[in-house]
Parts: sequence; structure tokens; C-alpha cells
Amino acid sequence: MADYDVIVIGAGPGGYVCAIRCAQLGLKTACVEARDTLGGTCLNIGCIPSKALLHASHALHEAEHNFAKMGLKGAAPKIDWKGMLAYKDDVIGQNTKGIEFLFKKNKVDWLKGFGSIPAAGQVKVGDAVHNTKSIIIASGSVPSTLPGIEVDEKIVVTSEGALALAKLPKKMVVIGAGVIGLELGSVYARLGAEVEVIEYLDHITPGMDSEVAKNFQKILTKQGLKFTLGAAVQGVETTKTKATVTYKLKKDDSAHQVEADVVLVATGRKPYTEGLGLDALGVEMTERGQIKTDGHWQTNIKGVYAIGDCIAGPMLAHKAEDEGMAVAEVVAGKHGHVNYGVIPGVVYTNPEVASVGATEEMLKQDGRAYKVGKFSFMGNGRAKANFMGDGFVKILADKETDRILGAHIIGPAAGDLIHEVCVAMEFGASAQDLALTCHAHPTFSEAVREAALACGDGAIHA
Ligand code: NAI
Repeated sequence: MADYDVIVIGAGPGGYVCAIRCAQLGLKTACVEARDTLGGTCLNIGCIPSKALLHASHALHEAEHNFAKMGLKGAAPKIDWKGMLAYKDDVIGQNTKGIEFLFKKNKVDWLKGFGSIPAAGQVKVGDAVHNTKSIIIASGSVPSTLPGIEVDEKIVVTSEGALALAKLPKKMVVIGAGVIGLELGSVYARLGAEVEVIEYLDHITPGMDSEVAKNFQKILTKQGLKFTLGAAVQGVETTKTKATVTYKLKKDDSAHQVEADVVLVATGRKPYTEGLGLDALGVEMTERGQIKTDGHWQTNIKGVYAIGDCIAGPMLAHKAEDEGMAVAEVVAGKHGHVNYGVIPGVVYTNPEVASVGATEEMLKQDGRAYKVGKFSFMGNGRAKANFMGDGFVKILADKETDRILGAHIIGPAAGDLIHEVCVAMEFGASAQDLALTCHAHPTFSEAVREAALACGDGAIHA
């Protein structure tokens, strides 16, 4: 007899959500996690701690730049870096303990240790082998650094080291203008560092609607970030206290060097599948090192499933969560579903950038007839009151049917505003459906409605 109905390997947002849902659906469930705390990269060394630092550094920025404008006088606070890190650690602790509580509440067993799969239907943790009907791999991803660059997590860091620096850098070089580079780069810029971002492409944030990306770069430049685009980093040399980054400009192949106290390598992430025993088990992989799955997240081995960053698709915590819930349904004999066309993406800078669905570039490439409704936050009373008039909402809708095809927001609370468009898209709504929905005044959300109005007869406050 099997010890468990399901064993989930990995307790990140994909794995822990999956385990809880399996238990809620009546399955005897265990979740294997080697870290001392639950929550995976996201809660321990990723999304959550970086948001704590974003929040603290934004509060400082407000004090330094906007308090006096609101009649709040007095010296801006000084940074106590150790104190800020302690606040961040406290936030991590509250969240990871929360998951432990949820496991107990839902009767999910936490198998502490590193899990591997000696055979289908078996998961080994330490010396113990547990029998199970289904296995769900949610092992996540790790930073993918550049060849020839040695990461010591002190001077040359990935996102993990960047969240626990011994002291604040005076000069930081960020390699890669993707989500991680910009989120963390902007934190350290707000905390007083000179930040230079070196990016291989000729634009920042690959995959983002290019009008939004251009605007985003302008705003970040205004905030003090320096961008060197079209530059391929060749290597990083370190001494005890400094690093020298060498890069070549693509336009003329000229070589350049720049010195920094800290270099953040943010050149992407790769699936983490080492040590699981997938080779011996005969699990098929993609060329990019992802676990191959079918439409029900099952691998080529019956009863072995995989979700999240270790399979194809965007490496996003919420995509992993959705897959976790859906695969739980599948394993429980129900019908799990993920709508991959409506997965929002958010960059947690200030202002935030959020998007869902198609970009203009994608629609052009598909030869699709579309219309654009745009509204600037300058026309939004609430944003102006909060010094957040930079940015806009852009809604893309089908030219014939008015059905919403995508939305891109750069501005205050963009990461929250995007969800009304997500819900609208889930229901196959038209731009007019959004435009005719009453939006409370004064809220940032009115900008979304105005952009929807701009897809039709026009925005009111433009
Ligand atoms: P990324 O793939 O978003 O960006 C990496 C950038 O590095 C690219 O723009 C690439 O052109 C550049 N690059 C690569 N090699 C280079 C070289 N030799 N010289 C100069 N530039 C080079 O990767 P990132 O930012 O590390 O994020 C990893 C993953 O984590 C992504 O899939 C991202 O979606 C996810 N993530 C998402 C977050 C969010 O949704 N808020 C937050 C953090 C991570």
C-alpha cells in the first residue's frame, strides 16, 4: 500500500500551493523540502524579500523627494542597513511560518530533506523511501550566470546575494536589464548607489511592449540609473573589495571596462533538476533543460508530473501556483486548467510595470487588425496628488470585435490594476465592457477605464 496519494517535491509557490490543494481535495499528501523553511526561492530569497527592500527604499525616496512638497518638514531618515535587512528577514519569517501553519492546518506532511525519485511511485528523502501514487516535481529554478564569471555572492552576486549585502555599495554594475536587474538595481539606486545597467540587447526588458519599455527606460534614467545597451559582458575580475566588468559594444566591437563595489549578474534563470534522478528514470527533457510535460503536466513517465519554473513557460510564481492547483485537480481525477493567454507579468519597480496578453509587436507580427486606447496618469487626479503622474495605461483591442487582446500599464499600482483587465479577458470582454463599468472616483483604476474609453469614442480626461 502507498504511504501517500501524492508527494510534491519542492515547497516553492508551485509546490506548496499544489500540496495544499491536493490535501483539500482529499488526497494524502506530503511535500519534500530541503531548505530549513518553506516557500522556496520566492519567499526566502526572491519575490518577498525584494519587495520588502523595494518598500523600504521607496519610503526613503518619498521622504527625500516628496515630503517637503506636502508640507512635511524635517530631515529625511538615515539608512540603518542592518535594520533594513532585519526588517526584510522578519517579513520572510512571517511568510515562511505562515506556510508551515497552512501545511499543519491542511494535514500536509513536510518531509524535510532533499528528494529524489529512484523509481516511479517512489520518493527518497535521506535514507527513507516513501511510496506514493503520484509524484509532482516543483523543483524551481536557479540563476543562470555567464560562463567565466565566478559568483561569490559578496562582490559578484546573483539576486540571492543582492538581498543580503554586507554593506551598501557606492557603485553597482548590473548585468542584464531584465526584471531582476531593474527591480534590484532600482532599490540600490534609491538607497544612494550609482547604478549602471549593462544589457546585451538594444532595449531593456525583452518581451515587453516596446512603447512601454522605452517609457520605462526614460523613467528609470530620470531616477538615476545609467544604461549601457548593445553591450555584451565578457568577464568580471575581482580583487578583495572591487570588481572590474569588461564588455564589448556590439556597434563597433570596442572593449570597455567599468569598476564597481558590487556586480549583480541578472542574466536569467534555468530549471533546477539536478539530483532528482530524472536521467536514470528516463524522464524526457527539452533542449533548454526543462522537464517535458503533456497538456496535463504529466511527464513521459506515468504518475510523474512537473510544474512551475522547471517546465516550459514564463518563470513566474503565479504561473507555478496556477499549475500547482490545476495538476492537483488532475491527480484528484478532476479537470485542471490554466489559461496561458491570461498570465499577468509585473515588474516591481516604482512605478510598477504590468502587462497581460499580446503586445503591439505580437499583434503586428500576427497581422492582426487592432486598435489602441491609451491614457496618461497625468490625467488621473489621484495619481497627480501622489506625485505619480508618470506613465500610462494602454489597452489593445480587436479592431472589428472590440475584444480586449492585451493591456500594458506603467504607473502607480500597475501590478494591481492589471487584474481587472485579466478578469475582463477571462470573460472575453470587449473594451466597451470595461469602459461601461463604473469605476470609483478618485482611484488609479479610473485610468484603466479611460484607456478602455479611448478604444471607443474617446477618454474624458485626455
Ligand atoms: P531576464 O531573462 O528577464 O533578463 C536577462 C537579461 O540579461 C536579458 O535582457 C539579456 O539580454 C541580458 N543578458 C544576457 N547575457 C548578457 C551579457 N553577456 N551581457 C549583457 N546582458 C546580457 O532574466 P532575470 O532578470 O535574471 O530574471 C530571471 C527570471 O526570473 C525571468 O524569467 C523573470 O521573469 C523571473 N523573475 C520575475 C520577477 C517578476 O515577475 N517580478 C522577479 C524576478 C524574477
